[in-house]
Parts: sequence; C-alpha cells; structure tokens
Amino acid sequence: MERYEKLLHDNGQGHILKYLENANPDKKAELINQIEKIDFKQLNELFKSSNRKIEEAQEGVIIEHVPFIDKYKMDKSQYQDLEELGENIIRSGKYAAVTMAGGQGTRLGHDGPKGTFLLNVKPEPKYLFQIIAEGLERANKKYNVTIPWYIMTSTENNDRTVEFMKEHNYFGYSEKDIMFFKQGNLPILSEQGKLLIDECGNIKLAADGNGCIYKSMKIDGVIDDMKKRGIEWVFIGAVDNALLNMVDPILLGLTINDINEIGAKSVVKVNPHERVGVFCKKDSKPAVIEYTEIPEEMAEETDEDGELLFGESHIMCNLYSISAIEKIANQKLPYHTAHKKAAYINENGELIKPEKPNAYKYEAFIFDGFRYFDEISILRGRREEDFAPIKNSEGVDSPESATKLYNDYWEKNANGRM
Ligand code: UD1
Repeated sequence: MERYEKLLHDNGQGHILKYLENANPDKKAELINQIEKIDFKQLNELFKSSNRKIEEAQEGVIIEHVPFIDKYKMDKSQYQDLEELGENIIRSGKYAAVTMAGGQGTRLGHDGPKGTFLLNVKPEPKYLFQIIAEGLERANKKYNVTIPWYIMTSTENNDRTVEFMKEHNYFGYSEKDIMFFKQGNLPILSEQGKLLIDECGNIKLAADGNGCIYKSMKIDGVIDDMKKRGIEWVFIGAVDNALLNMVDPILLGLTINDINEIGAKSVVKVNPHERVGVFCKKDSKPAVIEYTEIPEEMAEETDEDGELLFGESHIMCNLYSISAIEKIANQKLPYHTAHKKAAYINENGELIKPEKPNAYKYEAFIFDGFRYFDEISILRGRREEDFAPIKNSEGVDSPESATKLYNDYWEKNANGRM
C-alpha cells in the first residue's frame, strides 16, 4: 500500500481514493502531495472538539475585568512623557507595522482582497491599502524614518494582493520596505469528519485564522527580517478599519512604561451586543472573549457606574515586543470551530452548494497569543479616531458607516493625526 493510501485508510478518509481514481495524472499527483502534507493527528483532534459547546470550553475558567488607561483622561505631563518614550523608539527605527489582510471578506461581498476595496471617501475615493499606506507615510514624515510594513495575505488572495500593490506602485511606499507573507491553511471537514474536495479537484482548505500570524511570521522569515532591521516593537492591525492608526506613540509609551511585552488599543463597546471581542482576564492572564463566544449575561453586566464590565472592545490594534512575537510563534494556539456552508464536489463529480452549514472550519484567533503574558497595557482610545470597521455590505460596520467616520475624522483633523 502506498503511503498516501495508508494515511487515508488509517484516518477514516478512504472516500478520497475514489476521487484519486477518477483524477487525471497531474491532478492525482497534486492530491497526493496535499494528502501527504496533512497533519492527520491534529485534524482528528480538531474534529473531536468540533461539537464541544463553548460553555464547556469555558467551564471553570475565571473571567475577570481587565484595567485600562483612558488616553484622554491622563494628565498632561503623563501624556507627554509617554509620547516622548514612544516617539523615541519610532524615530530610532525600532518600530514595524504589520497588516493582517488574509481574510476573505465574505460578509462584505467584495470580489477581491479586502484591501483592494475602494472606499468612497472625501475628497476622493481611496483603497483600504492606500489609506493604510498614507497613514504610515504621515508617520514616516513626522519621525523622519521609513517604518517597515509587512502585509499578511492568504493562499487565496496573495497573488491578487501583490499584483494590486505593484500596479498602484505601492501607493508611494518604498518597495524595499514592504514585505508580503502568507498565512497557512487547514482542511475543512464535513459534519462526519470527512475531507471535502473543492471545485478544482483539490482537498478543500481554508485560511487557518488570524491567530496563525505569529507562526507565519516565523516560518516566512518576517521575524528574522525584523531582527536584521533592529526592530524592537511590532504593531499588528487589521486591513478592514478605515481609521486604523498603525503608529500611536502613546500606546507604545504606555506599554514600555508599564514594563509590559504586549499592549492594545480599545474603544468602548457601543452596546452589549456589538460584534466585537472584549478584553478581560481569563484565569488571571490577558485575554479577549470573542463576540461569538460571550454569554449574554456577561455581555450585559455593568459596574457600579453603569458602564459595561466587559466593555473594552478589541479593535485589532495590538502591540508586541519582538520577543513577545517570537514567544507566541513557538506556542500552539488553540483553534476555534466555525460551522459554515462549504460547497464541494461529491463522489459522482457533482458540485453541491449547501443551503445551510454543512462543514467545520478551524481558525486560530490572534488574541489567544495574549495568554502567554501576565499583563497587558490597554489604552482606551476613541471610536471616532480609531475604529471604522468595514465588515458588512450595508448597515452596521459597512462602507457607508466607515466612510462617514473617516470623513468626519479628517474634516476635524485636517492637519494630521493627534
Ligand atoms: C475581529 C476580531 C474581533 C474584533 C473585530 C473588530 C478576531 C478573531 N476577531 O472579528 O475580536 O473585535 O475583528 O473588528 O480577530 N484575517 C486574516 N486571516 C484569517 C482571518 C482573518 O488575515 O484567516 C484578518 C482579516 O483580513 C481582517 C481581520 O483578520 O483584517 C479580522 O478578521 P474577521 O474575520 O473579519 O474578524 P471579525 O469576525 O470581524
């Protein structure tokens, strides 16, 4: 028996042999190559946990409120001290920025990588990648440096992202200071734990979640590149925030001053059911409870002043020392399961497009990297300055709401960021 046949048999995936029989020699070789790369041990464990209720996973875990500092409630001299501390690091070229752009943006309904979405802002429409490039350029000018910019893509959108950036001449960013790197994939499994075959005749895969960023930074040589450049602090932000501020010296100053290895910006949750993760401590370690996993009572809980007890939103503005990134990259982050609709080719060669969820997708979450530290510095910013998410095609967190936030901000701050 060939190795791939044994792998399939031993792991209950014998049905794939039928596809192999029907495949042409090239496709067959491709499939075998895919099969040999699958970590079946990991996959079997993931499938076993697929049906585990979120409450079960959280059983016995002590969840507590986590303290934060309000950027606009500190006294002037403290603000200035933190600013100076942060600015010195940026000015000396020890600061790098990473944009996560590996997601598919399915909810937005845009045909292409999210960063290539054109937002109809004033005075002229801008692509999301352009908005980020311009933000970094402003910081470069202010601090007389070029901040190295790393962009995480996925197998699915890497080529289109790289081509797009090239076509637009990197929006004026210096090409030698931009580096693209790709996140990994994991197979999608049917509700019976079976591998699926996609429209191209390959094993159906999906991006392994933004939490795999740390591992990908290690594998793809990003950490090494940063070290070579003398980078000490790394900011990671998401592509789908039109007010993303990748360079906030106060966040940097605060984290350094607190002698912490990680920091994050938050904004107050608009209502208990806003679709954002919230900062907390789980078993005394920094954490985020995702909006899909927070129990309702906890989401609604308030303190004596009537503020939400778990009200500091994770807006994906996270900061790390380079050694923190390295430390997380060497850990195995947990995977979260999503029950999704996944089209596939059945054993008769027909394309099946399910109308309800039929498969499990496994994703690591970026904030699960926080648990390897005792403390995190959280800086509460302001929604109107820091957070204009673009998730849905209309309504809440849509291009329309983000455009309004962007225009309002830049009308008030025509001379640059505060
Ligand atoms: C995410 C956060 C949530 C936060 C909210 C704020 C996670 C797991 N959840 O939720 O806590 O409050 O944003 O807007 O981070 N991405 C990849 N690769 C992937 C998946 C996602 O690069 O495999 C990137 C996307 O391109 C995007 C970002 O991660 O830039 C967020 O992904 P998305 O799936 O839209 O997260 P949300 O569910 O909105």
